[in-house]
Amino acid sequence: MTPAERIAELRAQIRHHEERYYVLNDPEISDAEFDALLEELEALEREHPDLVTPDSPTQRVGGRPVEGFETVEHPVPMLSLDNAYSEDEVRAFDERVRRGLGAPGAALAYVTELKIDGLSISLVYENGVLVRGVTRGDGQRGEDVTSNVRTVRAIPLQLREAVAGRIEVRGEVYLPRQAFERANREREARGEPIFANPRNAAAGAIRNLDPRQVARRGLSSFVYQLLGEPALVPDRHSATLDRLRALGLPVEPHWRLCHGVDEVLAYCAEWREARRSLPFDTDGVVIKLDELALRRRLGATSKFPRWAIAFKFPAEQATTLLHRIEVNVGRTGAVTPYAVLEPIRVSGSTISLATLHNEQEIARRDIREGDTVLVEKGGDVIPKVVKPILAKRPPDSQPWRMPTVCPACGSALHKPEGEVVWRCINSACPARLRRGLEHFASRRAMDIEGLGEALIEQVVSTGLVRDFADLYHLDVESLAALERMGKKSAQNLVGQIDRSRSNEPWRLLYGLGIRHVGERAAQLLMAAFGSIEAVGRATVDELQAVNEIGPVVARSVREYFDEPRNQDLLRRLREAGVRTEAPRPPGGAEALGQLTGKTFVLTGTLSSMSRDEATAAIEALGGKVTGSVSKKTSWLVVGADAGSKLEKARALGVPTLDEAAFLELVGRR
Ligand code: IVH
Repeated sequence: MTPAERIAELRAQIRHHEERYYVLNDPEISDAEFDALLEELEALEREHPDLVTPDSPTQRVGGRPVEGFETVEHPVPMLSLDNAYSEDEVRAFDERVRRGLGAPGAALAYVTELKIDGLSISLVYENGVLVRGVTRGDGQRGEDVTSNVRTVRAIPLQLREAVAGRIEVRGEVYLPRQAFERANREREARGEPIFANPRNAAAGAIRNLDPRQVARRGLSSFVYQLLGEPALVPDRHSATLDRLRALGLPVEPHWRLCHGVDEVLAYCAEWREARRSLPFDTDGVVIKLDELALRRRLGATSKFPRWAIAFKFPAEQATTLLHRIEVNVGRTGAVTPYAVLEPIRVSGSTISLATLHNEQEIARRDIREGDTVLVEKGGDVIPKVVKPILAKRPPDSQPWRMPTVCPACGSALHKPEGEVVWRCINSACPARLRRGLEHFASRRAMDIEGLGEALIEQVVSTGLVRDFADLYHLDVESLAALERMGKKSAQNLVGQIDRSRSNEPWRLLYGLGIRHVGERAAQLLMAAFGSIEAVGRATVDELQAVNEIGPVVARSVREYFDEPRNQDLLRRLREAGVRTEAPRPPGGAEALGQLTGKTFVLTGTLSSMSRDEATAAIEALGGKVTGSVSKKTSWLVVGADAGSKLEKARALGVPTLDEAAFLELVGRR
């Protein structure tokens, strides 16, 4: 067999086993056997790089993070679904459909499917090869997330049949429950906020800029719609689902063809409980008219098709005792009340805390300490208190009162006019600082491993850290003196903090915790302005001129930088060597890489930038920085008080650059 033949054979085998495993959940070989096939293919492709094609099973995870996602238009808008919350509403839907079709007495054929709690995705296949994956976006335009979609092993890169031309397949990308729980366990261990539900976790993953991280999240997919030339699309939805399946695409297998609304309702009733045994979350049943010709006659409103509806399962409820109402101080100072409950099992998990939203909500529903309350767990991980059971209220019960001072720092709480949330406005409040540090150090922000909740508690309460900049002055001795900290972990932490100095500056901008500035906004702002200082100087109009940045974000950024304390914090961070500027070569893109192959050594102190900044500037242009001078060094950059490296460079004849010449070279003058 030639290598090309063996490669083709291996690919076919791997595709087959991927489908058995990820689509059908019914593997025929062990994981080890599968890995062996994949390794053999990888080895052959390494030997014969010319035989690598993008649809090879080895090519799911592309090489590098992407800069951002392109917006693309959906040829056919992606509509959403109207909801039904009761049997009566489902019957009313059926009646509307029958009337709309002029067939009031008919028992219509509907397909019922489980409603997957994920996010909608559009997949385009050309001649049977996956060429594009796009999010729903606003329904008209979505984001091109092809590189991430390719990492989802349930989505074939190549269909079982090379369907000529172009077809679009729509469905859902979701996170299986196990992968969701694993992601949250990992986040908890790192002291990061947990995902409220699998949908949020899936949505976050699919918009991650690094496909390697997406691949690790363990996303999966189900599809339920086929668009294309009329000849390619069956005239019944039930036949479409069979067709999609035959093409090797993942179709949720529990769908059913029902005749008349009673069969539809029976399906909904069956799955209300049975859904708990599924490996993924479903929040309802989607009911769709089977015949496409009938669908066309009904058409759609601007938002929903008239031929389908989503029946939502009721959230699970239980009653328990509300012991106390306590408040929590978030990093923006928002003070949120929550209920401390007698632990109780709801929807398969034990709950002992539930959110109470705000003071107004508590008053409106008259929830009191000592009440027996009805609690509910819906699609969100955080349970809610629905209402008190008044018949069980103790005779001496009193309405609850919002505290007037911050439980963490004792300063008076404020509530701006027209708002419902009370805030602690003391920016030095230890509770706010703790939450803020958790966010600052989190993986998506400054990514300081080892700086978790427990340690933050200690550095704040001992006064070692009073703001983010203090982190950069922590030393091994004072850290090692803390509880449960050895010298080794203290050293690791200091190393982690040091490493974070040279992070991409959008991480810092995000880590500062400016209200409404998420990861994406931080990236967009840095791409537009080049430095955090420039973001801080921009007017609301200038900020808003950035694509995707709206008035709320723009105003919040402006407010943040108008606060002298925040300006001061930024200055101290910069002085501590934290990078606030994105490398931007002067000559534009063509200047990138102009230092490729050049090796630099730095000595002495530069007056206009830190070592990390100088390193970043060199690396941004493709150069390398090493620690010691050798014959291979291209240049020695010489600052004030240069040491022995200068003598060595002179001895070896290595050329030197003073600060001015260096700045010129890297385009910073
Ligand atoms: S059909 C034009 N089927 O639910 C109708 N949607 O709440 C297209 N969803 O945007 C949707 N499972 O993202 C359909 N089996 C299923 C579904 C499903 C989940 C999502 C879909 C839709 C949302 C509406």
